[in-house]
Amino acid sequence: AETIILDCDPGHDDAVAIMLAHGNPNIDLAAVTTVAGNQTLDKVTRNALAVARVAGIVGVPFAAGADRPLIRNVETAPSIHGESGLDGPNLPEPAFTLDARHAVDLIIDTVMAHEPGTVTLVPTGALTNIALAVRKAPHIVERVKQVVLMGGGVHVGNWTPVAEFNIVIDPEAADIVFRAGWKVVMVGLDLTHQALATPEVEQRIAAIGTKPARFVGELLEYFKQTYANVAGFDSPPVHDPCAVAYVIDPTIVRAVQVPIVVELQGAHTTGMTVADFRAPAPATCPTWAAMELDRERFWALVVDAIERIGEP
Ligand code: BDR
Ligand code: CA
Repeated sequence: AETIILDCDPGHDDAVAIMLAHGNPNIDLAAVTTVAGNQTLDKVTRNALAVARVAGIVGVPFAAGADRPLIRNVETAPSIHGESGLDGPNLPEPAFTLDARHAVDLIIDTVMAHEPGTVTLVPTGALTNIALAVRKAPHIVERVKQVVLMGGGVHVGNWTPVAEFNIVIDPEAADIVFRAGWKVVMVGLDLTHQALATPEVEQRIAAIGTKPARFVGELLEYFKQTYANVAGFDSPPVHDPCAVAYVIDPTIVRAVQVPIVVELQGAHTTGMTVADFRAPAPATCPTWAAMELDRERFWALVVDAIERIGEP
């Protein structure tokens, strides 16, 4: 199994990512950490614990992290995720309490407690916690196997014309993560806009018939409405589980090795992930961009994970 730390801001698609990571037998979920993004830190942390209860996650440490970006002001996404950050279903009370450590310390401790080259970081929110971990404990960079992040896109955006939300809300943190030297797989909008929860997908999830499946159904229903209103999508793109799916089975995603830098100063382009496709990337290039998704196998993984979770 692949050991991962999921650093997230639930968030409808983050919730599905947590469930995929928990339900899939090839993932060893070592820790879940939260960061301000889709909503404030308090809200997304509460949501993460609610998802843990629905999915029956026990024995995995959850910790809260940064309540704001490194430099910029907090920016949340109520137009997409609602006032709670996870509007739609009823959210149960948490079944356990948070780990006492700050997320940054839990990340560092978890990486150091595992064999070198075995832990994959899966950030599905702003990169604030990961950047702080790099600064606090630079030795984790060579110890981490890879960073598979949901964020960015090859010259496409959603929060601005060319910038994606997770990157643009804390571009300085993203810059630190992309330049750290470890392998970074950018699972960006090029990929995640192929992961649409179509009516057919909704039906497959509904057919599972369990409480966790109904919870996911209610999440997707809400997400569908906001994505239709705000962005004109017929079906919502379920971004974050794509990063988990890549870790489970990289052959589900076609990724290309390409130099990527984060724009920090553009009047119109701050937060853009600039990929240099002018020439083949040197073999030493540590950054990759995910381009093409095997939709059928992706949704099969999501459905399978929810089925395996059963009725906790
Ligand atoms: C990303 O932004 C958040 O709103 C989603 O959870 C996802 O991580 C998509 O741009
Ligand atoms: Ca997210």
